[in-house]
Parts: sequence; structure tokens; C-alpha cells
Amino acid sequence: MIIYKSREEIETMDRCNRVVAKILAAVAGAVAPGTSTADLDRMAERMCRDAGVRPAFKGYRGYPCVLCTSVNEEVVHGIPSSKKVLREGDIIGLDFGVVLEGYYGDAAVTVPVGRISREAEDLLRVTSESLRRGILAARPGARLSDISAAVQTHVESHGYSVVREFVGHGIGTSLHEDPQVPNYGTPGTGPVLKEGLALAIEPMVNIGGPAVRIHADGWTASTIDGSLSAHFERSIAITEEGPMILGGNVEGL
Ligand code: MF3
Ligand code: CO
Repeated sequence: MIIYKSREEIETMDRCNRVVAKILAAVAGAVAPGTSTADLDRMAERMCRDAGVRPAFKGYRGYPCVLCTSVNEEVVHGIPSSKKVLREGDIIGLDFGVVLEGYYGDAAVTVPVGRISREAEDLLRVTSESLRRGILAARPGARLSDISAAVQTHVESHGYSVVREFVGHGIGTSLHEDPQVPNYGTPGTGPVLKEGLALAIEPMVNIGGPAVRIHADGWTASTIDGSLSAHFERSIAITEEGPMILGGNVEGL
């Protein structure tokens, strides 16, 4: 069941996602060779405390941390660890959410560690562009799969593949609400997008094939072929005027 949000609720979600975006941008700015993924998690947790918000992921289905940190061939849900130390040339996906006044915010970005290869740079650019394309397709009157198709078309036009096992989602007083938002599909199907619909759109893109496997930790998802993977996510709301990026345009996201 899709839960449509009032203007007041969207305003609260905007404030919530502003906190998400600010903390995520700060954590992304701390990414450097020699930093461990546990350092980044601690930083995000401290910033949540300072902002007076509850981290959304810690304790969610037993997830142990505040951030998800997914390095290189890791697709999503990498668990921060003091043993995972970043090296020049890595890429790292940072996925983060908070709860403010009962409403969830959720966003992710993949960033370079120092200087990275041209190949990795292109992957980050195209994945981020595919998120923008998906957001632009989220206009009132369009269909849900128009978002999916916009993402998929952009990704595949660059020879990359879209991960199927994980999808975007509705968001509100729960982290995951209906509808699911796949990053692939035929345009013109699914529910008509209406004012008040809030969605987290989150393309996960591999240089190689789309298949993923889950590690023994029960969380970390990696590409089966070992190819690099990137993930970008923003929460948006559909308004009369079109898609609204919740939390606004924060530099670095
Ligand atoms: N952005 C991810 C999602 O939308 C975050 C979930 S990680 C978890 O599903 F740890 F909270 F499960
Ligand atoms: Co999400």
C-alpha cells in the first residue's frame, strides 16, 4: 500500500534529508587513503548525536553500524571495520540514513579515494547521472517504471549493468515502504506518480555483469565477477511542480 504524504510531512522529510545530506557530505569529505571504514562510521555516529537525530540503519534487521561502506567490487551493505583501511585508487560507497521527528531520510554516494582510474571515474559519473535521470523522470502523471527505465537506459548505453537484487523504495515513517523502485524495467507500467509520493531512488551499477553474491557476514553484497560497482541514492518527493530532491542540492552529493 502506497502512503501519500501531506505538504507538512514532505517539509519534515526535507529537513530530515538535509541532515542526512550534510552528514554524508562531511563523511565523504573525510575519505582518504589510510582512513578505515570504522573511522567513517564513528564520525557519522558522532554527527548524528550532535544533530540530535537517530541513525536509521543501526539495529535495522540487526545491522550493526550507522553507515554502510562498500569498497570497490562491493555493491551495497558493506559493514564498517577497523581492518578495512582505504587505499589510494579505491572507490567507496557511503550509504546513510536518519530518523527525524518520526520520518526517515536515506541517501548514498560513491566517492574516490585519492586519485582513481579513468575507468572508475567514468563509472561514478554514469551512475550519478543515472540517478539524476531517474529523478527527472519522477514527474506527476508519469508511471513508476518510467523512473526505472530512465536509469536502466542510461546505464546500459554506457555498457554497464544494473543490479537486480536490490531496489529503491518508498520512504516515510518507515525506511522501506511501498512501492519498490527497480533500476530496470519497461516504461509506462506500474502506479501513476502522484503528488505526495516519496521515493528513495538508488541505482547500483556494475562495470561487468549484474550478478551479486552475499558474504558470510550476511550483509555485504559484491559483484560475482569482481568488477567495480557504484551506488548513488537520494530521497525525493513528487510535487505538483515535479520531483523535489529532499534535503536539497548539497555540494558533494
Ligand atoms: N539505503 C539502504 C536501503 O535503502 C540502507 C539499508 S542498510 C540497512 O535499503 F542496514 F539498514 F539495512
Ligand atoms: Co534506500
